[in-house]
Amino acid sequence: MSHSAADDTPRFKREAATWAVDAFFRAGMRVGLGTGSTAVFAVHRLAELRAQGQLLDVLGVPTSRETEALARTLGVPLTTLEEHPELDVTVDGADEVAPDLSLIKGGGGALLREKIVAQASRRVVIVVDAAKLSPTLGTRWPLPVEVLPFGWRSQALFLESLGASVTVRRDARGEPFLTDQGNRVLDCRFGPIERPEDLAARLGSRAGVVGHGLFLGLTTDLVVAGAHGVEHRARPD
Ligand code: A5P
Repeated sequence: MSHSAADDTPRFKREAATWAVDAFFRAGMRVGLGTGSTAVFAVHRLAELRAQGQLLDVLGVPTSRETEALARTLGVPLTTLEEHPELDVTVDGADEVAPDLSLIKGGGGALLREKIVAQASRRVVIVVDAAKLSPTLGTRWPLPVEVLPFGWRSQALFLESLGASVTVRRDARGEPFLTDQGNRVLDCRFGPIERPEDLAARLGSRAGVVGHGLFLGLTTDLVVAGAHGVEHRARPD
């Protein structure tokens, strides 16, 4: 049976996540467990290695309730940032990756916990299929912005004033999607974001904006899987 490129995407996601766990998880580590359809493969790989008697003392900090539930189902032992405020490494996915390894994340709505966990990690390994690579952030994916329910319409107007076309994210029932913190997500189409640092600063200084999906200067390692295999890029020092 022949496969189209689209059919291969789940395989690429699994290859990237599996490669990252094998390369970066070591005995005794405290690790961040990302969220999304790529990061789940990292949790599965950790469970698989545990079943082989490896990495039995590794503890994970999940970046969402969804990942926490998966880890519990697979018997992966968990901890919290309260108990372990510094992590050795986090493996997580991304929606869009720029050449300087800056990211847009939050397609799954876990952006805030993902950023907290990434900032608490010495090493942040991003695992993606090659379709996530982009010349400029914002070209391929809207920027998710997490806002408090209180005053959210004011935040939508603020985001429009910055040049975004704003959509309220909705769940499968058509209700406003709520994050693990009970906040809303506004998906903001800016088009190519030429100066992400400036935008991040504007968003960061706005009360009511709880988080945003620009991950700048956080990625230490990128693992990309595609038709030509797995490629690892380390951030230049
Ligand atoms: C979750 O909130 C996101 O940041 C994900 O890490 C990102 O959306 C990538 O998801 P996929 O691996 O499902 O594409």
